[in-house]
Amino acid sequence: MTLDLNPNDMSHVVAADRSHVWHHLSQHKQYETIDPRVFVEGKGMRLWDATGREFLDAVSGGVWTVNVGYGRESIANAIRDQLIKLNYYAGAAGTVPGAVFARKLIEKMPGMSRVYYSNSGSEANEKVYKMVRQIAARHHGGRKWKILYRDRDYHGTTIGTLATSGQDQRAMQYGPYPDGFVRVPHCLEYRKQWDVENYGERAADAIEEVILREGPDTVGAIVLEPVTAGGGVITPPEGYWQRVQEICRKYDILLHIDEVVCGLGRTGTWFGYQQYGIEPDFVTMAKGVASGYAAISCTVTTERVFEMFKDAPEDGMSYFRDISTFGGCTAGPVAAIENMRIIEDEGLLDNCTRMGERVMTNLHGLMEKHAVIGDVRGKGLFCGAELVSDRASKEPMDEKRVQAVVAECLAQGVIVGATNRSLPGLNNTLCLSPALIATADDIDRITDTIDHALTKVLG
Ligand SMILES: Cc1ncc(COP(=O)(O)O)c(C=O)c1O
Repeated sequence: MTLDLNPNDMSHVVAADRSHVWHHLSQHKQYETIDPRVFVEGKGMRLWDATGREFLDAVSGGVWTVNVGYGRESIANAIRDQLIKLNYYAGAAGTVPGAVFARKLIEKMPGMSRVYYSNSGSEANEKVYKMVRQIAARHHGGRKWKILYRDRDYHGTTIGTLATSGQDQRAMQYGPYPDGFVRVPHCLEYRKQWDVENYGERAADAIEEVILREGPDTVGAIVLEPVTAGGGVITPPEGYWQRVQEICRKYDILLHIDEVVCGLGRTGTWFGYQQYGIEPDFVTMAKGVASGYAAISCTVTTERVFEMFKDAPEDGMSYFRDISTFGGCTAGPVAAIENMRIIEDEGLLDNCTRMGERVMTNLHGLMEKHAVIGDVRGKGLFCGAELVSDRASKEPMDEKRVQAVVAECLAQGVIVGATNRSLPGLNNTLCLSPALIATADDIDRITDTIDHALTKVLG
C-alpha cells in the first residue's frame, strides 16, 4: 500500500490539515493566514516538516515524550511482530507483553508491585483517584476521601484531573469541578512564600497545615510531581521530600507520585522519585514509557494498596471495578519493553545525567550574560530558565516576549518549549527536555541558539 503522499509536494496534506484538523492547545484563527506546521519525518534528535525544513528537537516531541529519539526501527519491528501475533485482548485477561513489561518495570521500582494499564497520563492519574475513593469507601467508613494537589502541578486534561490542576489557566472555563480536591502551596524557592532558612521543610509544613485545616481523617492521598514540569520546571528544595514523606506517614495519607514526565529516565534515574529517596504508594507514568511509539500509561501500586482490593471476595463490589478498553492493546507494553532495553543497552541514564549537567552549566553561563534569566533549574535532561524583565524585583517576563524567544529559536531551526497558558502572569519559563540520546554538540547548539534568540529578541 502506498500513502497518498508525494514527497515533493505536501501542499495537499497541509491543506487537509488546515481544513479538518483541530490542533491541541491552539487558537486556530492564525491558520487563516499561515500554514499549520506538519511534521513528516524524524530521526534521532531531528525532525523534518512538510516544507522539508530540518529542526533539532529540544523538547522530545513537544511534550517531553520521545525519550529514546525518533526513527527507532527496533521498536517499530517489535510492535509489528506483536500486532501480527496478537494485537489486543481486554485487560481482564493477560497478554505476553503486558506480563513481561510489568515484571521488568517492577524490577526497576523496589517497593512497588502491581501495574494497571491504560492509555494516557490523565487516565493513569484518574485511576489513582478512583482507587483512593474506593479505599475511603471500603476501609475508612467513607472518610479519607479528599485528595490534595499542589499549586503549579499538572495531572491531566479530564474533568477529574483538572480538578487537581495547580495551573489555573488550564482549568479555567471547564468547571464546575467535583468536590474533595484541595490545593497545597508550591515549593518553588525562587518565588518565595516564606522567609526562612530551611525552605524545603517549610514548604512541606504548608501541606501539614492544609491537612490540619481539612481534618486528617478526611484526607486520603496527595498527588505530586517529583519535579514540576509544565508549571515551570520546579526542582524541590533540600529537605522537602523527606518532610513530605514524614507528613504522609504521620496522617496515614497515601502518596501518589505523578511520573508522567519524569518517568523512564528523564531526570537520569528510572524515575524522578528515586532521586529523592521517596517511598510512594502510587506511581503513574505515560509519556516516556514507550517514547510515543505507542500509547501506554501505567498506574503502579504497592502490594499493600493492591491487597485492599481483594480482602473481601464475598463482596461483589470489593474489587477495582474499572476498565480501559485500549489498556489491552499489546503495542504499548511491547514498545515499552524495547524502549527500556534501549535505555539500558545504550547507557541513556548516564548520558542523561552527563548531558543534563552540560545543559545546566551552559544555562548558568547564559545567566551571567543575560540579565533576563532570573533563575535556572533542572535535573537530568529536564531543565528550565525563568525569564524576568527585572532581575532584582523578579518581575516575570511578559508571555508574548517569552514566546518571541521560542519563535526565534524555531526560526533558527531549534525547537524549545515554554510554560504555555498555564499560570496567569507566570508563563515565563523556557523548557528544555531533549531526548536522552542528546550529544554535547546537540546541547551546545540548543543553548547557543537560546543565547542568540535572547540577544535578538530581548536585547
Ligand atoms: C505531570 C503530568 N501529568 C499528567 C499529564 C497528562 O498526560 P496525558 O496528556 O497523557 O493525559 C501530563 C501531560 O503533560 C503531565 O505533564
